[in-house]
Formats: sequence, structure tokens, C-alpha cells
Amino acid sequence: MNRFSRIVGTGSALPGEPVSNEELVIRLARIGVETSDDWIVTRTGIRQRYFAAPGVTSSQLGAEAARKALAAAGMEASEIDLIVVATSTPDHVFPSTACLVQKELDAPGGAAFDVSAVCSGFVYALATADAMIRTGIANRALVIGAEVFSRILDWNDRSTCVLFGDGAGAVVLSADTRPGVMAARLHADGRQGNVLCATGSISGGEVIGHPFLTMNGQAVFKLAVSVLDAVARETMAVAGMSLDQVDWLIPHQANVRILEASARRMGIASERVVVTVDQHANTSAASVPLALDRATRDGRIKPGQHVLLEGVGGGFTWGAALIQV
Ligand code: ACO
Repeated sequence: MNRFSRIVGTGSALPGEPVSNEELVIRLARIGVETSDDWIVTRTGIRQRYFAAPGVTSSQLGAEAARKALAAAGMEASEIDLIVVATSTPDHVFPSTACLVQKELDAPGGAAFDVSAVCSGFVYALATADAMIRTGIANRALVIGAEVFSRILDWNDRSTCVLFGDGAGAVVLSADTRPGVMAARLHADGRQGNVLCATGSISGGEVIGHPFLTMNGQAVFKLAVSVLDAVARETMAVAGMSLDQVDWLIPHQANVRILEASARRMGIASERVVVTVDQHANTSAASVPLALDRATRDGRIKPGQHVLLEGVGGGFTWGAALIQV
């Protein structure tokens, strides 16, 4: 009998109240950093973001999103035998964020580990969990993207600190005889690691060296548009389908201009692109599952439809997964 994995529930978590551009402009002015709502909206499409309060961690946000995904799936945490968390802002060096989520859900026994692929992390984690389910290593997985990126931002660097937010998204992936995950493709080019990085090293739990994210925005923009197009076409070809059969495109939510440029290049109409970056900003590994949950809960994504998920980010990493819901 054929064995596949299907998404049977989604959930998300956003900390606290949204922080509008206007509010961020005021907060940054207090520390002598000048920006404007107009600059942020024109360059990125971002209108607001969420920031975790001190002490709120990726594992806590991940567990909250996981609980909602489990409720949507009608499943108990005890039925889960695999937890994969994509994050670049883990609570600790170790234990992994996935182990902390497992503890929080009080569901011991299954496998749990983190995936580090920055903004491609959720697609990497989904492809990994799918492969483990298809090969019989696991039956029911929680795949989570969770980040507190606000902790690794240089608040004196206006070219990056206005772009990111915190949050988590989760899906329950379950073994099934019908394909849910139809194809997935993952890539990296380590030679491009310096275009987007946080190079501090960790020793004894302390960050040594430069602890903050740095980015060459224009290089990231060009790379992102080109690889998102290529991996979309590759993934659809693996599934034996074409881009015009995609009902919904959910790319990593970095920037409206990247979303528009890559959708245009793929020939996908903007009405078929799920956009949440205006509401959440860039939440790195959480952005794709947050957008998937949003469009599932508001009824845009309907049973039987084909959804193409895409990630791109530091490393440099990128990937895509075609799912049927
Ligand atoms: N407010 C006001 N002015 C600003 C701000 C700000 N927050 N940030 C930069 N500026 C100024 C710069 O100082 C510069 O001023 P100058 O011309 O007087 O020197 C001017 O704006 C233009 O700066 P650029 O960096 O050239 O701006 P650009 O048009 O390239 O836009 C941006 C920057 C939005 C980052 C763009 O490069 C981009 O969209 N890159 C894609 C990268 C991205 O979205 N990364 C997200 C993370 S990566 C990922 O998730 C894959």
C-alpha cells in the first residue's frame, strides 16, 4: 500500500499586541534611529509586526501553535511520535527547541529535533518529516516554525530592524494512503552565506562576537527572486504538474516586492498568492506556516486544492513543497 503524509491540522501563535510602523518609528526615534512608515511600506509592504515580551521563547510560541494545530486535527499530543522545529532563535544551545516543545506538551517518547535553515526552515522541516513518515520512521508529526528574531536584531541598524517580527506556526502531518505532500525539493549554496548571517558563536551559553543579523538587502533580493522561481518549477515538474495548476502560492514572507516579483516570474496571479508579511513582517521559519494557517482558517484554502510552499533564506538556503490539502 502507498504511504504518504498529509497535513491534517494547522495552528499559529503571535505574541502580545501588534506593533504598527507608527509605533515602531516612535520607539526607534527614542534611541536616535530615524525611519518612517512610508519608507517601510514602500520598500517592504510591512505595516505591523509582533514582538515577544522578555522571557517569551521560541519553544513557548511553538508549543502554543502546536496545541492549536492538534486541536484542528482533533488529535492528542500523546499521538505524536515526531516533533521537528525549524528555528534560528532556539531557547538554548541544547536541549533542542523541539525537546522543549515536547516537554511543554507533556508528550514524551517520540523523536524530537531542530532544523537550522533560517527562513527556509519550515520547508526543510516539512520535507524531513514527510520523508520520515513515508519511510515508516514516524506516523504523526508536529512540524513547527518558531522564532523570536527580535532578539538577534541590531536596533541601531534601521536597514534590518524594521523588517522582522516574532511568531510561530505549526502543522500536524499524518501518515495517509493519499498524497498530501506531493513533492519537495531543497537546496543550499554555502558560498552565499555572507549575504544574510548572524555570525556570533556560542560558548558556554554566551554569544561571542557579533550577535546580530546582518544582511546585504539587494543581493538577498536578487538571489531570492531567482531561486524561488527555479525551485517552484523543479518541484512542480517532480509532481508531474505545472505552475498553472497551483491554487495557492505561499512563499516565505520576507517582503511584498519579493513576493510580487517572484509570482510575476512564475506567471502566478497575485490573487493566488497568500500575503501576510504586511501583518506579521518577516518571521523567518515561522512565516510559511503562519500564512498557511491564516489562509486555511479564513477559508481561502479549500480541501483538494494544491498549495505550493516556498522558503528562502540564510545559508543561503531555499526549497519548495507542493501539498494537496
Ligand atoms: N528607514 C528609512 N531609510 C532607510 C531605512 C529605514 N528603515 N533603511 C535603509 N534606509 C535608507 C538607506 O540608508 C539608504 O539611504 P541613502 O540612499 O541615503 O544611503 C536608502 O534607504 C536606500 O537603502 P537601500 O538598502 O538601497 O534600500 P533598498 O531599496 O535596497 O531596500 C530592502 C532595502 C528593503 C532591505 C531591500 O533591499 C530588500 O527588499 N531586500 C530584500 C531583502 C529582504 O527582504 N530581506 C529580508 C530578510 S531575508 C529573507 O528573509 C530571505
